[in-house]
Amino acid sequence: MSSQHPNYNFTYPIITFAPAMHIKPTPLQHINEPLFREKGVEVWLKRDDLTHPDISGNKWRKLKYNLVEAKEEGLSTLLTFGGPYSNHIHALAAAGKLFGFKTIGIIRGEPSEEPTDTLQNAAKNGMRILFMDRAQYRLKNEPESIESLHVQLGEFYMVPEGGTNIYALQGCIEMVNEIKTDYDYICLGCGTGGTLAGVVAGLYGKKKALGFSSLKGKDTLTSSITELVQDFTDKTFDNLQITFDYHFGGYAKVNDELIDFIKAFKQNHLTQLEPVYTGKMIYGLYDMIKNDQFPRGTKIVAIHTGGLQGLCGYKKEFENEIQN
Ligand SMILES: Cc1ncc(COP(=O)(O)O)c(C=O)c1O
Repeated sequence: MSSQHPNYNFTYPIITFAPAMHIKPTPLQHINEPLFREKGVEVWLKRDDLTHPDISGNKWRKLKYNLVEAKEEGLSTLLTFGGPYSNHIHALAAAGKLFGFKTIGIIRGEPSEEPTDTLQNAAKNGMRILFMDRAQYRLKNEPESIESLHVQLGEFYMVPEGGTNIYALQGCIEMVNEIKTDYDYICLGCGTGGTLAGVVAGLYGKKKALGFSSLKGKDTLTSSITELVQDFTDKTFDNLQITFDYHFGGYAKVNDELIDFIKAFKQNHLTQLEPVYTGKMIYGLYDMIKNDQFPRGTKIVAIHTGGLQGLCGYKKEFENEIQN
Protein backbone atom coordinates (compact mmCIF):
# COMPACT_ATOMS: atom_id res chain seq x y z
CA MET A 1 0.00 0.00 0.00
CA SER A 2 1.32 3.41 -0.92
CA SER A 3 1.65 6.06 1.75
CA GLN A 4 2.20 8.78 -0.86
CA HIS A 5 -1.47 9.33 -1.40
CA PRO A 6 -2.63 12.96 -1.15
CA ASN A 7 -5.77 12.18 0.87
CA TYR A 8 -4.19 9.55 2.93
CA ASN A 9 -3.65 10.02 6.61
CA PHE A 10 -3.66 6.94 8.78
CA THR A 11 -1.14 7.84 11.42
CA TYR A 12 -3.72 7.67 14.22
CA PRO A 13 -3.29 4.77 16.62
CA ILE A 14 -5.99 2.09 16.58
CA ILE A 15 -7.25 3.27 19.96
CA THR A 16 -8.63 6.45 18.35
CA PHE A 17 -10.27 4.24 15.81
CA ALA A 18 -13.17 6.33 14.48
CA PRO A 19 -11.05 9.44 13.91
CA ALA A 20 -8.56 7.22 12.09
CA MET A 21 -11.24 6.64 9.49
CA HIS A 22 -11.85 10.34 9.07
CA ILE A 23 -10.48 11.46 5.70
CA LYS A 24 -10.20 14.75 3.90
CA PRO A 25 -13.03 15.42 1.40
CA THR A 26 -12.17 13.85 -1.94
CA PRO A 27 -11.65 16.37 -4.76
CA LEU A 28 -14.08 17.42 -7.48
CA GLN A 29 -12.61 17.26 -10.98
CA HIS A 30 -14.30 19.49 -13.53
CA ILE A 31 -14.78 17.53 -16.76
CA ASN A 32 -14.06 19.74 -19.68
CA GLU A 33 -15.80 18.26 -22.75
CA PRO A 34 -16.91 19.98 -25.98
CA LEU A 35 -20.16 17.94 -25.81
CA PHE A 36 -21.00 19.32 -22.38
CA ARG A 37 -20.33 22.89 -23.51
CA GLU A 38 -22.50 22.39 -26.59
CA LYS A 39 -25.36 21.08 -24.43
CA GLY A 40 -24.92 23.71 -21.71
CA VAL A 41 -24.34 21.08 -19.01
CA GLU A 42 -21.58 21.05 -16.40
CA VAL A 43 -20.10 17.85 -15.01
CA TRP A 44 -17.76 17.24 -12.09
CA LEU A 45 -16.28 13.90 -11.14
CA LYS A 46 -16.02 13.43 -7.40
CA ARG A 47 -12.76 11.52 -7.13
CA ASP A 48 -13.78 9.14 -4.40
CA ASP A 49 -11.38 6.64 -5.96
CA LEU A 50 -8.78 8.67 -4.05
CA THR A 51 -10.02 7.75 -0.58
CA HIS A 52 -7.37 5.06 -0.29
CA PRO A 53 -5.42 2.96 -2.83
CA ASP A 54 -6.97 -0.33 -1.65
CA ILE A 55 -10.13 0.79 0.16
CA SER A 56 -11.38 3.03 -2.58
CA GLY A 57 -14.56 4.96 -3.19
CA ASN A 58 -17.79 3.50 -1.93
CA LYS A 59 -15.88 0.70 -0.19
CA TRP A 60 -14.34 3.16 2.27
CA ARG A 61 -17.67 4.85 2.78
CA LYS A 62 -19.55 1.58 3.29
CA LEU A 63 -16.99 -0.03 5.56
CA LYS A 64 -16.27 2.92 7.83
CA TYR A 65 -19.20 2.60 10.23
CA ASN A 66 -19.28 -1.18 9.92
CA LEU A 67 -15.77 -1.24 11.32
CA VAL A 68 -16.73 1.22 14.04
CA GLU A 69 -19.71 -1.00 14.90
CA ALA A 70 -17.54 -4.15 14.97
CA LYS A 71 -15.18 -2.41 17.41
CA GLU A 72 -18.10 -1.28 19.54
CA GLU A 73 -19.43 -4.84 19.67
CA GLY A 74 -15.96 -5.96 20.74
CA LEU A 75 -15.51 -8.25 17.73
CA SER A 76 -12.06 -8.64 16.26
CA THR A 77 -12.89 -10.75 13.18
CA LEU A 78 -14.75 -9.50 10.13
CA LEU A 79 -16.43 -12.00 7.82
CA THR A 80 -17.87 -11.18 4.44
CA PHE A 81 -18.91 -12.67 1.10
CA GLY A 82 -18.04 -11.98 -2.52
CA GLY A 83 -17.00 -13.23 -5.92
CA PRO A 84 -13.40 -13.97 -6.93
CA TYR A 85 -12.93 -10.47 -8.44
CA SER A 86 -14.88 -8.60 -5.78
CA ASN A 87 -13.83 -5.02 -4.96
CA HIS A 88 -15.50 -5.51 -1.61
CA ILE A 89 -13.36 -8.56 -0.72
CA HIS A 90 -10.24 -6.63 -1.78
CA ALA A 91 -11.19 -3.60 0.32
CA LEU A 92 -12.29 -5.51 3.41
CA ALA A 93 -9.03 -7.48 3.50
CA ALA A 94 -7.04 -4.23 3.26
CA ALA A 95 -9.20 -2.51 5.88
CA GLY A 96 -8.77 -5.44 8.25
CA LYS A 97 -5.03 -5.22 7.93
CA LEU A 98 -5.00 -1.45 8.33
CA PHE A 99 -7.29 -1.34 11.36
CA GLY A 100 -6.25 -4.51 13.17
CA PHE A 101 -9.07 -6.97 12.41
CA LYS A 102 -8.76 -10.60 11.35
CA THR A 103 -10.71 -11.13 8.13
CA ILE A 104 -12.48 -14.07 6.54
CA GLY A 105 -13.73 -13.99 2.94
CA ILE A 106 -16.36 -16.50 1.86
CA ILE A 107 -15.95 -16.73 -1.90
CA ARG A 108 -18.71 -17.79 -4.29
CA GLY A 109 -17.97 -20.97 -6.25
CA GLU A 110 -15.11 -23.43 -6.38
CA PRO A 111 -11.42 -22.59 -5.97
CA SER A 112 -9.60 -22.34 -9.28
CA GLU A 113 -6.05 -23.54 -9.89
CA GLU A 114 -4.82 -20.01 -10.45
CA PRO A 115 -6.44 -17.70 -7.85
CA THR A 116 -7.45 -14.28 -9.14
CA ASP A 117 -5.23 -11.28 -8.33
CA THR A 118 -8.05 -10.09 -6.07
CA LEU A 119 -7.90 -13.23 -3.94
CA GLN A 120 -4.11 -13.32 -3.95
CA ASN A 121 -4.00 -9.73 -2.68
CA ALA A 122 -6.67 -10.39 -0.09
CA ALA A 123 -4.69 -13.39 1.19
CA LYS A 124 -1.52 -11.25 1.28
CA ASN A 125 -3.45 -8.84 3.50
CA GLY A 126 -4.14 -11.72 5.88
CA MET A 127 -7.64 -12.67 4.78
CA ARG A 128 -8.59 -16.30 5.34
CA ILE A 129 -10.22 -17.37 2.08
CA LEU A 130 -12.92 -20.05 2.10
CA PHE A 131 -15.03 -21.17 -0.85
CA MET A 132 -18.74 -21.90 -0.80
CA ASP A 133 -20.52 -23.68 -3.65
CA ARG A 134 -23.07 -21.64 -5.54
CA ALA A 135 -26.14 -23.43 -4.17
CA GLN A 136 -25.04 -22.86 -0.58
CA TYR A 137 -23.92 -19.33 -1.41
CA ARG A 138 -27.43 -18.38 -2.50
CA LEU A 139 -28.60 -19.28 1.01
CA LYS A 140 -25.75 -17.51 2.81
CA ASN A 141 -27.98 -14.98 4.58
CA GLU A 142 -30.35 -17.59 6.01
CA PRO A 143 -30.05 -17.86 9.83
CA GLU A 144 -29.09 -21.58 9.63
CA SER A 145 -26.29 -20.80 7.21
CA ILE A 146 -24.92 -18.00 9.42
CA GLU A 147 -25.23 -20.22 12.48
CA SER A 148 -23.25 -22.96 10.78
CA LEU A 149 -20.51 -20.42 9.91
CA HIS A 150 -20.38 -19.44 13.58
CA VAL A 151 -20.05 -23.08 14.63
CA GLN A 152 -17.22 -23.55 12.13
CA LEU A 153 -15.44 -20.21 12.55
CA GLY A 154 -16.33 -18.80 15.96
CA GLU A 155 -17.29 -15.19 16.67
CA PHE A 156 -17.27 -12.65 13.87
CA TYR A 157 -18.85 -9.41 12.73
CA MET A 158 -20.65 -10.12 9.48
CA VAL A 159 -20.47 -7.53 6.74
CA PRO A 160 -23.00 -8.42 4.04
CA GLU A 161 -21.97 -9.02 0.42
CA GLY A 162 -21.13 -5.67 -1.17
CA GLY A 163 -21.07 -4.10 2.31
CA THR A 164 -24.66 -2.89 2.01
CA ASN A 165 -26.47 -2.31 5.29
CA ILE A 166 -27.57 0.56 7.49
CA TYR A 167 -24.00 1.38 8.57
CA ALA A 168 -22.99 1.67 4.94
CA LEU A 169 -25.59 4.38 4.45
CA GLN A 170 -24.10 6.46 7.22
CA GLY A 171 -20.71 6.51 5.50
CA CYS A 172 -22.21 7.34 2.11
CA ILE A 173 -24.05 10.31 3.60
CA GLU A 174 -20.66 11.80 4.49
CA MET A 175 -19.71 11.58 0.83
CA VAL A 176 -22.74 13.72 -0.09
CA ASN A 177 -22.02 16.22 2.68
CA GLU A 178 -18.52 16.80 1.31
CA ILE A 179 -19.87 18.26 -1.95
CA LYS A 180 -19.72 22.02 -1.55
CA THR A 181 -20.32 23.10 -5.14
CA ASP A 182 -23.81 23.91 -6.43
CA TYR A 183 -25.36 20.96 -8.31
CA ASP A 184 -28.66 19.48 -9.49
CA TYR A 185 -27.80 15.78 -9.79
CA ILE A 186 -25.57 13.20 -8.16
CA CYS A 187 -24.90 10.26 -10.50
CA LEU A 188 -23.32 6.95 -9.65
CA GLY A 189 -23.10 3.34 -10.73
CA CYS A 190 -25.07 0.78 -8.75
CA GLY A 191 -25.07 -2.90 -7.94
CA THR A 192 -26.87 -3.67 -4.69
CA GLY A 193 -27.91 -0.01 -4.48
CA GLY A 194 -26.48 0.53 -1.00
CA THR A 195 -24.34 3.47 -2.07
CA LEU A 196 -27.23 5.07 -3.93
CA ALA A 197 -29.43 4.57 -0.85
CA GLY A 198 -26.83 6.46 1.18
CA VAL A 199 -26.81 9.26 -1.39
CA VAL A 200 -30.62 9.50 -1.31
CA ALA A 201 -30.55 9.57 2.50
CA GLY A 202 -27.82 12.25 2.36
CA LEU A 203 -29.76 14.40 -0.09
CA TYR A 204 -32.82 14.15 2.18
CA GLY A 205 -35.25 15.05 -0.60
CA LYS A 206 -33.17 17.82 -2.14
CA LYS A 207 -31.73 17.71 -5.67
CA LYS A 208 -31.80 14.42 -7.63
CA ALA A 209 -30.02 11.09 -7.34
CA LEU A 210 -29.50 9.21 -10.60
CA GLY A 211 -28.26 5.62 -10.50
CA PHE A 212 -26.90 3.66 -13.46
CA SER A 213 -27.53 -0.02 -12.87
CA SER A 214 -24.71 -2.39 -13.79
CA LEU A 215 -27.13 -5.29 -13.50
CA LYS A 216 -30.04 -6.17 -15.74
CA GLY A 217 -32.64 -6.91 -13.06
CA LYS A 218 -35.16 -4.14 -12.57
CA ASP A 219 -37.50 -5.79 -10.12
CA THR A 220 -35.97 -5.32 -6.75
CA LEU A 221 -33.39 -2.52 -6.97
CA THR A 222 -35.69 0.48 -6.55
CA SER A 223 -37.67 -1.17 -3.76
CA SER A 224 -34.59 -2.31 -1.85
CA ILE A 225 -33.11 1.20 -2.06
CA THR A 226 -36.38 2.72 -0.89
CA GLU A 227 -36.50 0.23 1.99
CA LEU A 228 -32.94 0.99 3.08
CA VAL A 229 -33.60 4.72 2.95
CA GLN A 230 -36.77 4.25 4.97
CA ASP A 231 -34.98 2.16 7.58
CA PHE A 232 -32.40 4.88 7.96
CA THR A 233 -34.46 8.07 7.72
CA ASP A 234 -38.04 6.92 8.39
CA LYS A 235 -38.95 8.73 5.19
CA THR A 236 -39.51 8.10 1.49
CA PHE A 237 -38.19 10.52 -1.09
CA ASP A 238 -39.14 10.94 -4.72
CA ASN A 239 -35.87 12.35 -6.01
CA LEU A 240 -34.46 8.93 -6.97
CA GLN A 241 -34.16 7.79 -10.56
CA ILE A 242 -32.45 4.64 -11.88
CA THR A 243 -31.60 3.87 -15.47
CA PHE A 244 -31.20 0.28 -16.67
CA ASP A 245 -30.15 1.33 -20.18
CA TYR A 246 -26.39 1.05 -19.70
CA HIS A 247 -25.65 -2.38 -18.22
CA PHE A 248 -24.14 -3.61 -21.51
CA GLY A 249 -25.80 -7.02 -21.21
CA GLY A 250 -25.48 -7.47 -17.47
CA TYR A 251 -23.10 -7.61 -14.57
CA ALA A 252 -19.42 -7.54 -15.62
CA LYS A 253 -20.37 -7.75 -19.33
CA VAL A 254 -18.42 -5.43 -21.61
CA ASN A 255 -18.08 -4.71 -25.31
CA ASP A 256 -15.48 -2.95 -27.48
CA GLU A 257 -17.40 0.32 -27.44
CA LEU A 258 -17.27 0.47 -23.64
CA ILE A 259 -13.59 -0.48 -23.51
CA ASP A 260 -12.72 2.17 -26.15
CA PHE A 261 -14.76 4.75 -24.24
CA ILE A 262 -12.88 4.06 -21.01
CA LYS A 263 -9.53 4.35 -22.80
CA ALA A 264 -10.52 7.60 -24.51
CA PHE A 265 -11.77 9.03 -21.21
CA LYS A 266 -8.42 8.26 -19.62
CA GLN A 267 -6.57 9.94 -22.49
CA ASN A 268 -8.74 13.03 -22.40
CA HIS A 269 -9.17 13.43 -18.64
CA LEU A 270 -6.21 11.53 -17.18
CA THR A 271 -8.61 9.48 -15.06
CA GLN A 272 -8.95 5.72 -15.06
CA LEU A 273 -12.41 4.17 -14.93
CA GLU A 274 -13.21 0.46 -14.68
CA PRO A 275 -15.74 -1.39 -16.84
CA VAL A 276 -18.09 -2.86 -14.21
CA TYR A 277 -19.48 0.31 -12.60
CA THR A 278 -17.78 3.64 -13.23
CA GLY A 279 -17.16 3.07 -16.97
CA LYS A 280 -20.80 2.17 -17.59
CA MET A 281 -22.03 5.09 -15.51
CA ILE A 282 -19.89 7.71 -17.27
CA TYR A 283 -20.68 6.20 -20.68
CA GLY A 284 -24.38 6.40 -19.83
CA LEU A 285 -24.06 9.96 -18.60
CA TYR A 286 -22.40 11.07 -21.85
CA ASP A 287 -25.13 9.32 -23.82
CA MET A 288 -27.92 10.95 -21.82
CA ILE A 289 -26.33 14.37 -22.23
CA LYS A 290 -25.91 13.74 -25.98
CA ASN A 291 -29.61 12.84 -26.15
CA ASP A 292 -30.69 16.04 -24.38
CA GLN A 293 -31.94 14.29 -21.25
CA PHE A 294 -30.78 17.21 -19.09
CA PRO A 295 -31.95 20.80 -19.60
CA ARG A 296 -29.33 23.46 -20.36
CA GLY A 297 -27.80 24.79 -17.19
CA THR A 298 -27.89 21.41 -15.40
CA LYS A 299 -25.00 20.80 -13.01
CA ILE A 300 -24.03 17.19 -12.38
CA VAL A 301 -21.68 15.59 -9.87
CA ALA A 302 -20.77 12.03 -10.93
CA ILE A 303 -19.13 9.88 -8.27
CA HIS A 304 -16.04 7.88 -9.12
CA THR A 305 -16.73 4.97 -6.78
CA GLY A 306 -13.25 3.50 -7.22
CA GLY A 307 -12.79 -0.24 -7.65
CA LEU A 308 -9.87 -0.03 -10.07
CA GLN A 309 -8.43 -3.28 -8.75
CA GLY A 310 -11.31 -4.88 -10.69
CA LEU A 311 -9.37 -4.16 -13.90
CA CYS A 312 -7.45 -7.35 -13.09
CA GLY A 313 -10.50 -9.24 -14.40
CA TYR A 314 -9.97 -7.58 -17.81
CA LYS A 315 -6.27 -8.11 -18.39
CA LYS A 316 -6.62 -8.63 -22.13
CA GLU A 317 -8.74 -5.50 -22.64
CA PHE A 318 -6.65 -3.24 -20.38
CA GLU A 319 -3.13 -4.64 -20.62
CA ASN A 320 -1.61 -1.15 -20.91
CA GLU A 321 -3.72 0.34 -18.14
CA ILE A 322 -2.99 -2.22 -15.42
CA GLN A 323 0.04 -1.23 -13.41
CA ASN A 324 1.86 -4.04 -11.71
C1 LIG B 1 -16.52 0.48 -7.87
C2 LIG B 1 -17.92 0.23 -7.47
N1 LIG B 1 -18.84 1.16 -7.77
C3 LIG B 1 -20.13 0.99 -7.46
C4 LIG B 1 -20.57 -0.15 -6.84
C5 LIG B 1 -22.02 -0.32 -6.53
O1 LIG B 1 -22.25 -0.24 -5.18
P1 LIG B 1 -23.61 -0.71 -4.53
O2 LIG B 1 -23.54 -2.21 -4.41
O3 LIG B 1 -23.65 -0.03 -3.24
O4 LIG B 1 -24.70 -0.31 -5.44
C6 LIG B 1 -19.66 -1.15 -6.49
C7 LIG B 1 -20.13 -2.35 -5.80
O5 LIG B 1 -19.49 -3.27 -5.46
C8 LIG B 1 -18.28 -0.96 -6.81
O6 LIG B 1 -17.35 -1.88 -6.53
